Amino acid sequence: MKSMELVIEGECYISGRFERACVGIDGGRIVALARNLDGDRRIDFGSRKILPAAIDSHVHFREPGMTHKEDFGTGSLAALHGGVSCVFDMPNTAPPTTTVSALDDKARAAAARSLVDFGLFAAVRPGADIAALAGRAIGFKLYMAGTTGDLLVPSLASVQKELADVARSGKVLAVHAEDETIRRKEPAKGPADHLRNRPNECEASAIRKVARAAEGCRVHICHVSAKDSLPLVQGQPNLTSEVTPHHMLLDRDRPLGTFGKVNPPLRTKGDRQAMFLAFKQGQFDTMASDHAPHTVDEKKEDFDYAPSGMPGVETMFPLMLQHVRDKHLALATVVKALCERPGEIFGIKKGRIEVGYDADLVAVDFMAGRDIRADDMHSKCGWTAYEGMPAVFPRATVVRGELMMKDEEQAGESRGRDVVAKDR
Ligand code: DOR
Ligand code: ZN
Repeated sequence: MKSMELVIEGECYISGRFERACVGIDGGRIVALARNLDGDRRIDFGSRKILPAAIDSHVHFREPGMTHKEDFGTGSLAALHGGVSCVFDMPNTAPPTTTVSALDDKARAAAARSLVDFGLFAAVRPGADIAALAGRAIGFKLYMAGTTGDLLVPSLASVQKELADVARSGKVLAVHAEDETIRRKEPAKGPADHLRNRPNECEASAIRKVARAAEGCRVHICHVSAKDSLPLVQGQPNLTSEVTPHHMLLDRDRPLGTFGKVNPPLRTKGDRQAMFLAFKQGQFDTMASDHAPHTVDEKKEDFDYAPSGMPGVETMFPLMLQHVRDKHLALATVVKALCERPGEIFGIKKGRIEVGYDADLVAVDFMAGRDIRADDMHSKCGWTAYEGMPAVFPRATVVRGELMMKDEEQAGESRGRDVVAKDR
């Protein structure tokens, strides 16, 4: 066999188990897997575990329009340090990603600055040219309740035609499922009041409504957070679901104040535990961070004025790897939800150590854990809701065969690619 550009060697996670192997890489793709391979260049990770890098299919990198919170440069640097090689950015930017020109502008900004690969969501709004957007977007996002940005679609009847067009496009319809007609707008002083305003039924009702209205669409329910929603997202044809680390690890009783304000809200301990158990049992298709950075100053506003959302792209995979290390979760469950299923659902060849897939890898030392500290994070927002929690940060992140992060330092300069329109 001809020598390949690069060979990466280590304890590789292949078909659900670890084996000492060489990953042969040409043109950024995995072209061979074998016990021994020759390459022009070689990286030996020794006894470290080599896993597929994560795909974070739900982030808000705030570019354009809110780059004081984050931009593709800082967001993607945080991603690299968290073992994430590919992100899908949400459309609630300024301007919102609702037109082909807005999508193209955002793609140019991402291509100029992102250190990881990316896909861009377009928003469903009355009058949106779905067919034109479909060729360039990783999927469509539907906001059923008011939250950051101005993309609320209060009545599904107003987007009937657009939903039919999404169904025809075959693209995923990612849904922020909170029912605006149930949401209460009473003053809130803390996460408990925020939860009262956005009760469990608010989420469950929205899921029921969109499942009916988006017939023929590949519906993907984002950030499932309520116990009551679980039966609604399991075993449904054409419906997949996502959970976040925060709904699985945090609840309204944590003393986070405005820093715990997020939509959907942090709920009760019972809801949190139900999310953890459902995740552990493999009931969610994907885990995504819903990385939604806001500055410390913005978060220090009075509760009612503080924006909703928390950062998470850098901590998601490390928190889950810690739970694997602690034997609370199976590695297979984590890899499936963070790597394999996002790749399958959104139709990209990432998330597996397999011939034909992009060489997106992380090297992990399960013994080298450390506590999460805001000071160590790379997001522009400068804070984390997980301060002091133990985590297993990857020692290296490889994006399409390029070593981009090593020993917690940026190691490469290459820019990420748009996974949808690579020739754009
Ligand atoms: O808490 C949230 N923050 N929920 C959302 O739906 C949007 C996000 C943001 O963009 O800040
Ligand atoms: Zn979001």
